[in-house]
Amino acid sequence: MNTYTYTVGGTAKEAVNNVFLFIVVISVILLLLVTGLMIYFAVKYNRKRHPQSEPVKQKPWLEIVWTLVPTILVLGMFFYGYEGFKLMRNVPEDSMIVKVIGRMWDWSFEYENGRRTDRLYVPIGKNVKLEMKSVDVVHSLYIPAFRIKEDLVPGRETYLWFKPQTVGPADIFCAEYCGQRHAYMLSQVMVMEVNEFDKWYQQEDAEQAAADELMKIPAVKFMDDYGCLSCHSLNIPIGEQIPLKGIFGRKRIVIKDGKELEVSVDEEYLKRALLEPGVEVVKGQVNMMEPVEDISEEELNMIIDFLKEYK
Ligand code: CUA
Repeated sequence: MNTYTYTVGGTAKEAVNNVFLFIVVISVILLLLVTGLMIYFAVKYNRKRHPQSEPVKQKPWLEIVWTLVPTILVLGMFFYGYEGFKLMRNVPEDSMIVKVIGRMWDWSFEYENGRRTDRLYVPIGKNVKLEMKSVDVVHSLYIPAFRIKEDLVPGRETYLWFKPQTVGPADIFCAEYCGQRHAYMLSQVMVMEVNEFDKWYQQEDAEQAAADELMKIPAVKFMDDYGCLSCHSLNIPIGEQIPLKGIFGRKRIVIKDGKELEVSVDEEYLKRALLEPGVEVVKGQVNMMEPVEDISEEELNMIIDFLKEYK
């Protein structure tokens, strides 16, 4: 049984908001000051009033003031920002650890008890540390609601921490361009009440068990190895993708040679879709799939037979 202790203290969200507010307030004051002075001088030193220009006199104290004041303000911004940076880099010791894997083009989250999900679940008020790895290219985990973002770099482990303070979902984005489906590399962090989270955390992972069971099927294992499953989901919709479950026998409207036509998803259609994905494209979709190459007749039939049965 896991019991968590709760700490009070600053979070990245407060730190970032405060620095942002600090910079905005200073910028607005300076904007008003500079604009006001410009208008004032334009009127005061107008040619009609001052037909003759006067030489500018040396005013050392004025120069000192306009050098020192901005220097102090900028240093203030730096130190204020640096405090926030230190806070973000120092993970509280009582943090719950979640391992994050980023890949083209999805996220996976693994908890201390081995539970794995594609959505991040956390209890409210608890410090959470994300230990992140990428298996392919550089990705960046970005949770705007918590004001945190950190790159995932292949061959290196990076981290982030946050403390969720309101119950409900928040978006997770990939903030580093990582290929064709970068924009679909989305997930969510679901903040739950502590008791609900504990229940969820303890629960026998039915979904995971079902997913593990599916992976034992040779056709599914093959599709996974082939990379099909990084864009196509088996039973849960990813982005705009239609899950493969129950696809066999459906009717679809496709565009072929610029013309719309209705086809039914049968063996022949699936073969064409795998070998020449760009020829008949489902209406409203953009083809992003490369033709499946070096696939044997046997392997092709294995996939098709699986999809036939997978209802
Ligand atoms: Cu992963 Cu962009």
